[in-house]
Amino acid sequence: MALFSKDLGIDLGTINTRLADGSQILIDEPTIVAIEVDEQKMVAVGKEARDMYGRVPDSIEVARPLRHGVIADYEITEALLAYLLQRVSGSLRFFRPRVMISVPYGVTSVERRAVYEAILEAGSREAYLIQQSLAAALGIDLPIGSPSGNMVICLGGGATEAAVMAMYGIVSAETLRAGGLDLDEAIINYVRRKYGVVIGQVTAEQLKIKIGAAVPQDTEQSMEVQGQDQVTGLPRPVTLTTGEIVEALQDPLKDVIENCRRVLEKTPPELVADIIDRGVALCGGGALLRGVDKLLTKSLGIPAYLVDNPLTCVVEGAYRGIGMYSILRRNLPMA
Ligand SMILES: Nc1ncnc2c1ncn2[C@@H]1O[C@H](COP(=O)(O)OP(=O)(O)OP(=O)(O)O)[C@@H](O)[C@H]1O
Ligand SMILES: [Mg+2]
Repeated sequence: MALFSKDLGIDLGTINTRLADGSQILIDEPTIVAIEVDEQKMVAVGKEARDMYGRVPDSIEVARPLRHGVIADYEITEALLAYLLQRVSGSLRFFRPRVMISVPYGVTSVERRAVYEAILEAGSREAYLIQQSLAAALGIDLPIGSPSGNMVICLGGGATEAAVMAMYGIVSAETLRAGGLDLDEAIINYVRRKYGVVIGQVTAEQLKIKIGAAVPQDTEQSMEVQGQDQVTGLPRPVTLTTGEIVEALQDPLKDVIENCRRVLEKTPPELVADIIDRGVALCGGGALLRGVDKLLTKSLGIPAYLVDNPLTCVVEGAYRGIGMYSILRRNLPMA
């Protein structure tokens, strides 16, 4: 009965998981779960679990079940998906949605299979996989059904994917198993080397988001953070500037640029010409880093622009993909 059938798009990300139906984003939660170790029982999910990160006794484990866009802990992922499906299904006890869920382009068949099994086990009626970049392109309304080239770069927390698409399929793509978390790591290393102070990932991420940039900025900002002296272990504050964060991020950003270059190298020249005309769309949380559009525009020689919905285009596109299944079918990854 129509009342009990529902379609859902899911973006299972390293940092954030999102669920959407046709009208709205139903769930947007960190991909984190807190588990009671002895009983192997889930005690918190999403934001609530994230707030426990690094602040719990040994009896509770707070875990991110995905790494670099792929499932690292199958059971926790399945439990998380089951919980989220339950939450959107509300009181409809027999509700079993049809789901399209995104996976990075460059994953192995075993990794894809794990996502497929997990979402079925979690309670969906039917499941389809879609490459993250293809979902993103649908979510930002790129004209990928035409025989001309469209390029998307997804800068996620655990992975960075660049892809060129035409005729509803991927022509060339590469997934780099590094993302926003690696930018945070580069900031941690920079602060340790330069000041002998150890800071945590959450602090490094705040520096990146509040004062960070991919290229030098006209106005320098600064921010004081608390760390631990590497030698004495005692608390020590340190003040960082925008310029320092730019410097810290150069190496990991070089890898991102290299990844995009490799994709362009593999792309037929006619499609490259289209992309030069149309530009390359940037999405994912990392696309919000100040100046990353400028950096990519300069280093690739193609205008790069931030899309309107960088955080939600993948889940919106995954939802749309269900209705387009008969067209997309031959280009979707096999489970
Ligand atoms: N304003 C900002 N500046 C820089 N980075 C940001 C900003 N906002 C969010 N981020 C980063 O974006 C990342 C999360 O983005 P997103 O939700 O797209 O990742 P994800 O989909 O969970 O990961 P993946 O696609 O790699 O599996 C985090 O690393 C976060 O630090
Ligand atoms: Mg993502």
